[in-house]
Amino acid sequence: MRGMMNKAGWTIGIVACMAAWTARAEGQPSPADMQRGMEIMQKQMALMSPELVEKAKALSPEIKQFLVRVALRHERRSDTLTLVQVMQEIMVEHQAIGVAIATDNGPLAADAARRLAFHRLPKGGMLPYLPIEKVTTESLSVLPSMEAAVEGNATKIAEAAERGDMAAAAHHYGEMTAGCVACHMHFRGQPGASAYVPRLRK
Ligand code: HEC
Repeated sequence: MRGMMNKAGWTIGIVACMAAWTARAEGQPSPADMQRGMEIMQKQMALMSPELVEKAKALSPEIKQFLVRVALRHERRSDTLTLVQVMQEIMVEHQAIGVAIATDNGPLAADAARRLAFHRLPKGGMLPYLPIEKVTTESLSVLPSMEAAVEGNATKIAEAAERGDMAAAAHHYGEMTAGCVACHMHFRGQPGASAYVPRLRK
């Protein structure tokens, strides 16, 4: 019961955030988008533990708004895949971009970079996969800059590759990869550790 009330509380918080967002001049979501954002967030929260719901509820309106925006912008949302599986898919795109740059294949680089920029979202969104102590406004406040580094540079790679400027694409590839590294240093424990052996994950 307590869990249910908490979830309702967070949903109300999201409605308030979306309303604040519509009040702003740029990037206003349509009513249909607001409805969609609400539905996605409700679906994600249904999968969260009561403890995680508490932590999510306490996040700042800016971070909540950011999470809704991310959920809305990424049209591919899986009901089964985990964050590690989505990351493996991102890794495949990353490698395809590397091959394309090295072989001067602009169309392949551009397509893979756009797939990376609009990558799939895992079941339940990102929060359930982070260490619970990282689900705070302070810790999550790095997310917009991580997004700019990875998705922003992926878009720049695509644009450079479409112009046939592979030197610029290679430069943005390095900057994008630095974004992967920064986010991993902040949020990821030991790579590849099994969920069955929690002590290895530190
Ligand atoms: C928003 C933060 C964030 C960004 C940006 C990010 N990752 Fe990750 N990545 C994670 C987290 C967190 C995990 C660990 C997930 C888990 O263990 O459940 C992870 C895991 C992975 C894994 C799985 C390996 C393992 O077992 O830990 C691969 C591969 C990976 N990331 C590749 C990439 C690549 C390539 C990029 C950049 C194009 C990238 N990631 C960008 C957060 C991020």
